[in-house]
Amino acid sequence: MPGGYPFLGHALHLRSQLLEFVRSLRTRGDVVAFRLGPRDAYAVNHPDLIRQVLVTDAMSFLKGRVFEKGRLVARSGLFTSEGDFHLRQRRIIQPLFRRAHIQQYAATMRQITQAHVGAWRDGQEVRMDRELFDLALSTVTRVLFSTQLGEGRSEAACRSLPVLLEGLGRRAVAPIDLLDKLPTVMNYRFGRALSLMQSMIEGITAEYRACGTDTVDLLAALLAARDEDTGEGMSDEQVYDDVVTMLIAGTETTAGALSWACFLLSRHPHIQRRLQDELDEHLGDREVAFEDLGKLGFLQQVMAETLRLHPSTWMLVRRPVTDIELGGHLLPAGSTVLFSIYALQRDPTLYPHPDEFDPDRWATECAAQIHRDAYIPFGAGVRGCAGEQFAHAEMAVILAVMLRQYTLSPASGPPARLPSRSSGSSPCPAPCH
Ligand code: HEM
Repeated sequence: MPGGYPFLGHALHLRSQLLEFVRSLRTRGDVVAFRLGPRDAYAVNHPDLIRQVLVTDAMSFLKGRVFEKGRLVARSGLFTSEGDFHLRQRRIIQPLFRRAHIQQYAATMRQITQAHVGAWRDGQEVRMDRELFDLALSTVTRVLFSTQLGEGRSEAACRSLPVLLEGLGRRAVAPIDLLDKLPTVMNYRFGRALSLMQSMIEGITAEYRACGTDTVDLLAALLAARDEDTGEGMSDEQVYDDVVTMLIAGTETTAGALSWACFLLSRHPHIQRRLQDELDEHLGDREVAFEDLGKLGFLQQVMAETLRLHPSTWMLVRRPVTDIELGGHLLPAGSTVLFSIYALQRDPTLYPHPDEFDPDRWATECAAQIHRDAYIPFGAGVRGCAGEQFAHAEMAVILAVMLRQYTLSPASGPPARLPSRSSGSSPCPAPCH
């Protein structure tokens, strides 16, 4: 592809004009070759080929460099591990996100949301991105450790997580690894946040191991989990890796999606009204329960449409383990294979009026027309999101509780905008009251 710089190739385009760049690649073919610094890179655009990478030939790909940076914090947790080790972890962890577990977590989600939004007042201006980050973090921590964390530990989690997320995002796109090691204030804060997080999780794990627990939280389930084939349990180190993975993978993603949902609803009052009517009609005076979520059809459509327009993860990256043929191109082992969920889900050949917020495109009869693999906000295949059902339930409960109590309208101040720089995940608007 033309337009690259010597040595850097198209790396600068990717860093500085992410959205325009990834969307422009879609018009150039199903597989587009370009350069990222010294490496060959390929953008894969066709949904069938994306499926081939994520599902059919998944074992021929590793996750790649961006995820290697994640190992600084999550070491060999589910998100960052590879190969047989990953498959073993996945076998242990996936059952903890089955329907029966989510059903138990849903009550906790509702209580936390009620307490959180109960503190708002009618007419108050609220920074929704911050509120929803706090809410998502409280939800994940309470579901992980149902025993109250205590003030010191909660504070450690709340202070450390944003620093870790920001540091990981910066490291993932840094041109050289040396920058991570310089004695800068940012690097110092990152190191301190990491050790706070480590001692918090290790402390709680040691207490659970020492005293035993009859609670139904995720940490207790991780400690009790056994590989169905071998009967083996998880070491403390592995438990730490997966707990920190859940905190990282499950907070900013859900908070970002919820922030965009609130933003879109506040700008489309008729859609918000329709959603509130559905909630009133279906729930009457009852509080929302897990069993209601699947029956709130329009709420599900609003969430699907939000995640189509604003997928929390914009781009996925893979690295072929061996040379592999894809759509008539030979991708060499070690090259970077990249595809943009954002660009795929706004492709005009796959979605009519792709930039419009139209939850009705997900009504049963219309949804049947959409290409099966053109909607992948949670990825797909063996590396697809382990927390997808959890995130769905959490988003639905939070929106239901919030919209029964409040009507959102846009706040004063500058409008939300899509960031132009690359972080690979979770851009959030900051609107609403
Ligand atoms: C709206 C919310 C969420 C979105 C959009 C989302 C999206 C994704 C995506 C796209 C991936 C695949 C990454 C890849 O293939 O490279 C992923 C993986 C993952 N997600 Fe989520 N996620 C969300 C919420 C959550 C939650 C709440 C949790 C846990 C509590 C979670 C845990 C994970 C884990 C553990 C993985 C790695 C799975 C593996 O590699 O086996 N996610 N997520």
